[in-house]
Amino acid sequence: MEIQVPKHPSRYPSLLEPSYVMLILGVLPLLLLRLPCWAADIPEDITAEFSVRLYHQLQSTGGEDNIIFSPLSVAVALGMVELGARGATLNEIRQAVGYSHLRAGDEFSLLRNLTQAMSADETQNVVKLANSLFLQTGVHFNPDFLKLMKKYFRAEIETVDFSESAAVAEHINAWVENHTESKIRDLLSADDFSSVTRLTLVNAIYFRGSWKNQFRPENTRTFSFSKDDGSEVQTLMMYQQGDFYYGEFSDGSTEAGGVYQVLEMPYEGEDMSMMIVLPRQEVPLAALEPIIKAQLLEEWANNVKRQKVEVYLPRFKVEQRIDLRETLQELGIKNIFTKDADLSAMAGEMADGKDLFVGKAVQKAYLEVTEEGAEGAAGSGMIALTRTLVLYPQVMADHPFFFLIRNRKTGSILFMGRVMNPEVIDSNDHDFDAV
Ligand SMILES: *[C@@H]1O[C@H](CO)[C@@H](O)[C@H](O)[C@H]1NC(C)=O
Ligand SMILES: *[C@@H]1O[C@H](CO)[C@@H](O)[C@H](O)[C@H]1NC(C)=O
Repeated sequence: MEIQVPKHPSRYPSLLEPSYVMLILGVLPLLLLRLPCWAADIPEDITAEFSVRLYHQLQSTGGEDNIIFSPLSVAVALGMVELGARGATLNEIRQAVGYSHLRAGDEFSLLRNLTQAMSADETQNVVKLANSLFLQTGVHFNPDFLKLMKKYFRAEIETVDFSESAAVAEHINAWVENHTESKIRDLLSADDFSSVTRLTLVNAIYFRGSWKNQFRPENTRTFSFSKDDGSEVQTLMMYQQGDFYYGEFSDGSTEAGGVYQVLEMPYEGEDMSMMIVLPRQEVPLAALEPIIKAQLLEEWANNVKRQKVEVYLPRFKVEQRIDLRETLQELGIKNIFTKDADLSAMAGEMADGKDLFVGKAVQKAYLEVTEEGAEGAAGSGMIALTRTLVLYPQVMADHPFFFLIRNRKTGSILFMGRVMNPEVIDSNDHDFDAV
């Protein structure tokens, strides 16, 4: 199914007064997963390049902080905006995200196929994507746009009165909370809206999975984590010996720190997995980060081999709110945020809103990694943290690492980030935050 992209935006009635489109992403990833199975027709994600560029952008401004974001969610949100874009605005998005070689409009069907592949089996609550469009009451939008939003993004559409900014913020926050099992709260505040806001796009992702090989909580210990600034903090370290996908890689230069390890730990069903990329203990993650490229992700995925591995992984929780407006502009998506934006395909016979543009773009992502899994884990009952004899390769994530949660079939990246700084454990409380 193709989207008709009119050559002449004027085919849609033009808008008259400035308005804002607000793009908001509430993202929530999460724990463990159960695995969906889907149709044999497997789409292939082509946004890895874009995802990696996003990561590098966040890294360049992120100092020594943890990073967590959802590339897939950004792509979906941009897809929703793109559906309403025309002309140069449309081309800018297509080019930046990497759709230029697709036939016009194919990206929408691709995004739909990718998100369906993520959430095929909803009874298992594995990955839930929810998209919603909040429109200003009384403003008319192009019915074709609304129809396509439903078709490709299954967007819920609601009208609200943005001039009542506090009530709107509360309403949208409730929606996000509702779709993220309450992991993302207070995404927006009244200040995010004004009487000229016309439209808010909200995109929420929730992910929960169970490790295929779960960690036994009784094997978790307090352990030292060496940060890249040389300091040490105490974290809760999970441990197990199990069958995983594992490989050792090197880009051949000493600059990137020589050999580094890649561990891929599948979630139940094996369609989703978490990939951990760990430099050697004495090598800061910052030395490894520059070599990360889309092609390299592919190489890792294709070259890790199933084998027994001894794994030490901190329990961690990362959370981040990203101003996508700044980040996307750095990646060349500028037009949608300016008065030059051409979002004319969104507008119906609106009496106002000539300069419809994206006023706000926020993503909040949350990820928690724990031992957890269904009861009856087929754990191998190892004794934790006694390093007497190393029989298998050992992945000791007691220093900063990079990670991905991806769909192993489509290559879609649900989450990407790094753990630099797990917080000190409060000895009275086994919970800790690494925010
Ligand atoms: C998405 O899936 C449908 C149905 O399987 C298929 O016809 C379509 O070509 C796919 N779109 C893309 C861009 O792969
Ligand atoms: C939250 O979910 C409940 C149950 O599905 C529903 O009744 C309620 O309207 C939802 N609230 C919002 C703000 O979407």
